[in-house]
Amino acid sequence: MLKVAVIGTGAICSAHIQGYLTFPDKCQIVALCDIYPEKAERINEEFSLQAAVYNDAKTLLEKEDVNLISVCTPPYTHAGLAIDCLDAGKHVLVEKPMASSLEECDAMNEAQQRNNKILSVVAQNRFTTPMMKVKQILEQDMIGTVLHTQVDSFWWRGHSYYDLWWRGTWEKEGGGCTLNHAVHHIDIFQWMQGMPDEITAVTSNTAHDNAEVEDISIAIGRYPNGSLAQITSSVVHHGEEQQLVFQGEKARISVPWKIKASLSQENGFPEANQSLEDQLMEAYNTQPSLTYEGHTGQIQDVIESIQQNKQVLVDGIQGRQTLELITAIYESANYQRTVKLPLTKESPFYTRKGILKNAKHFYEKGKSIENFKNNQITT
Ligand SMILES: NC(=O)c1ccc[n+]([C@@H]2O[C@H](COP(=O)([O-])OP(=O)(O)OC[C@H]3O[C@@H](n4cnc5c(N)ncnc54)[C@H](O)[C@@H]3O)[C@@H](O)[C@H]2O)c1
Repeated sequence: MLKVAVIGTGAICSAHIQGYLTFPDKCQIVALCDIYPEKAERINEEFSLQAAVYNDAKTLLEKEDVNLISVCTPPYTHAGLAIDCLDAGKHVLVEKPMASSLEECDAMNEAQQRNNKILSVVAQNRFTTPMMKVKQILEQDMIGTVLHTQVDSFWWRGHSYYDLWWRGTWEKEGGGCTLNHAVHHIDIFQWMQGMPDEITAVTSNTAHDNAEVEDISIAIGRYPNGSLAQITSSVVHHGEEQQLVFQGEKARISVPWKIKASLSQENGFPEANQSLEDQLMEAYNTQPSLTYEGHTGQIQDVIESIQQNKQVLVDGIQGRQTLELITAIYESANYQRTVKLPLTKESPFYTRKGILKNAKHFYEKGKSIENFKNNQITT
């Protein structure tokens, strides 16, 4: 039986707690920690956990003999907390984004190596049936070389969203919608398509004059074979119509699932390739569905990886790659130039200090509130 602790008992912690509670024969939540311990007490009561409550992680690590810790705190705390947990010999599941700089990601991965414990970065959208099916189909090479990828990470957040004390600043949130919202789609994009070798991007803040960070970015990635990807990250899109579209030589597939396949007529104009469309549909429909999706699916993966000593699906290397793409978007937009990947330690955005010094501040953060009355979120 794995003993579990959760650090940070705000909005997202319920998804972790529900995940752990789905596997009562495999794990038990024994400790909660928040700098506002009354929030941890409320969670204890809400889920009838009878967990010990702490107001700082160091004391929790000294007093509790836990195996696995979920880090559900704001981004600027992820690296410090995850490293302390790993150095205390615990496995760690850290919320997205992995950290607020590549330097911090590297330090986390070193701590993972040094302690030989699991470090998994939350990317719960991978753990959905449609994503897994599309990944499989791409791996079977049914659509030919991918020529264009479209990533629409469209979200909508009102002005007051950035009033929460840690949001809307480069120091504490670490970035805007590219880092904190599109991270989900950028993770899936690099998992399915691999890393492009250059990025050209533009960022803007169009509707949130209470935030230092961007509320929209548009980036273009280029692969060595000339194939292009366009990644739009936004919190100004009503309806949040998110999609990942892969345009292959032979067919187009996407999440949400939709297919089209064309053949060329004699004059180059398209006609439907019904046979390939049928094969793609068959490949999609015959794959099994996941038993557990979202955070619960990822928690299942982490628990099984600990118990069976196997590799987690989303490790610190994957988390770092996603952050590298995001960092390249920021660097490119900031200096209005194309950025080559991989980024090196010489990148002005490699360290947190560099980001704070160099990143464009769109506005000053306005109001700062400790907590919203309504803690319900959608993910
Ligand atoms: N995976 C997802 O879909 C998803 C959705 C929302 C948020 N998140 C991520 O989860 C993290 C937390 O976001 P949230 O929306 O739950 O924020 P939140 O502010 O609601 O909760 C964070 C909690 O951490 C506590 N905290 C801050 N510093 C701490 C520290 N040093 N030690 C202990 N507790 C500390 C705060 O008091 C707060 O209760 C962020 O990294 C965010 O990007 C992920």
